Amino acid sequence: MTSSTLKTFGQQLSRRSWAEPWKIKAVEPIHMIDRDERARALEEAGYNTFLLRSADVYIDLLTDSGTSAMSDRQWAGMMMGDEAYAGSNNFYHLEKAVQDYYGYKHMVPTHQGRGAEHLLSQTAIKPGQSVPGNMYFTTTRLHHELAGGTFIDVIIDEAHDPNNEHPFKGNVDLEKMEALVTEVGAENVAYVSLAGTVNMAGGQPVSMANVRELREFCDRHGIRIFLDATRMVENAYFIQQREDGYADKSIAEILKKFCGYTDGAWMSAKKDNLVNIGGWLAVNNFDLFDALRNLVVVFEGLHTYGGMAGRDMEALAIGIEEAVEDDHVHSRVGQVLYLGELLLDWEIPIVKPVGGHAIFLDAKGFYPHIPQDQFPAQVLTAQLYLDSGVRGMERGNVSAGRDPNTGDHRYPALELTRLAIPRRVYTQAHMDVVAEAVKTVYDARQQTKGLEMVYEPKDLRFFQARFTPIS
Ligand code: F0G
Repeated sequence: MTSSTLKTFGQQLSRRSWAEPWKIKAVEPIHMIDRDERARALEEAGYNTFLLRSADVYIDLLTDSGTSAMSDRQWAGMMMGDEAYAGSNNFYHLEKAVQDYYGYKHMVPTHQGRGAEHLLSQTAIKPGQSVPGNMYFTTTRLHHELAGGTFIDVIIDEAHDPNNEHPFKGNVDLEKMEALVTEVGAENVAYVSLAGTVNMAGGQPVSMANVRELREFCDRHGIRIFLDATRMVENAYFIQQREDGYADKSIAEILKKFCGYTDGAWMSAKKDNLVNIGGWLAVNNFDLFDALRNLVVVFEGLHTYGGMAGRDMEALAIGIEEAVEDDHVHSRVGQVLYLGELLLDWEIPIVKPVGGHAIFLDAKGFYPHIPQDQFPAQVLTAQLYLDSGVRGMERGNVSAGRDPNTGDHRYPALELTRLAIPRRVYTQAHMDVVAEAVKTVYDARQQTKGLEMVYEPKDLRFFQARFTPIS
């Protein structure tokens, strides 16, 4: 499924496409409201797509989080929910799935990813410590800060350049790690917060060679590595496709090997693991596990459900198995690539190479005339909704928030609008419609004006901030 094969449709008999490894059993109707209604909805939402009603959205690419379609096996699993307060069968199934596929010894369930981030940050960060990571993620960094830590960006410089085609833009720069350890001392580094496919960099992967070198470095200094495994399956796919020596290895083998270089992981199961709600935290060290198991009962629920119903844990255990099937991952990442290639053919500025879960439109490339404190990515996200009812998400100055020390906007190098593709939900025709909508907005770029922020929440402001157009 590529755009070049589309263009030659009917002319080339040797054309061979691939297709999704599933067929559709239940459908959910969607429809587009007219342009006047979209304009009204956008104004009521303060030009923030998080504040739109989903009934007013046509194609919803706000997030790939909790928006996947479950399989018939997962729905059947929901009926097998053992809704016991303690010791549910489904917990033991989930625990075994995490152990089998990710390889860690001990698992604590949580209601979603940020629940796990909270427990890990409170347990493994001492106030004043640094937490190096391969680019920030919004909730992850906030939990580091709430625990008294300071996030330090140690991703390679290439990650901050949307046009740099490095195959592993998620890699950690070991010289930056060395400089941090020299500056603050290894004892003041809480752990490395390593993400598989880096969300804010455009869904870019980390190579196996990089995590192996990072492990060696951390072993020399006695520093732990915890993995944000939220989209690590997609990272494993990129290793299989791009790194020497992995072409004949399965996604499952690559995933487990990668995790083996880390001390533990946390998971927003709403992404890779194909469920609508859920998360987990898994570590090898028993004492750390014991501390996490003590804390989970305070904030999430008993250590054998952690905020999930039994049926949620069952769907998750099955989702973990389905998530690593090679055909599934190929079609999932392939659909993202299909949309990316359509846009690249039209020379629309996007983050390259195309990442695992989303297309990231480069708003600075769309609107060089809009200064960053007039929120170009927020503008682009709003324009796209207005044109076509397609909902994306701002991932630029608004998401980056303010520096807690200076109070200034952070002005990230990447000013992006993300179009995240839910797993197993939309078809190729939906992707064509999205590409044409982006093209229309791109063609109108010169007439487009900036936004002013008129309401700003203190934490994670992008969720609820409100804007008004600058006339
Ligand atoms: N880590 C990463 C890399 C994430 O992308 C997210 C969520 C989380 C942690 C937190 O997990 O939402 O289950 O509490 N990302 C969503 C997104 C919200 O749209 O990218 P959560």
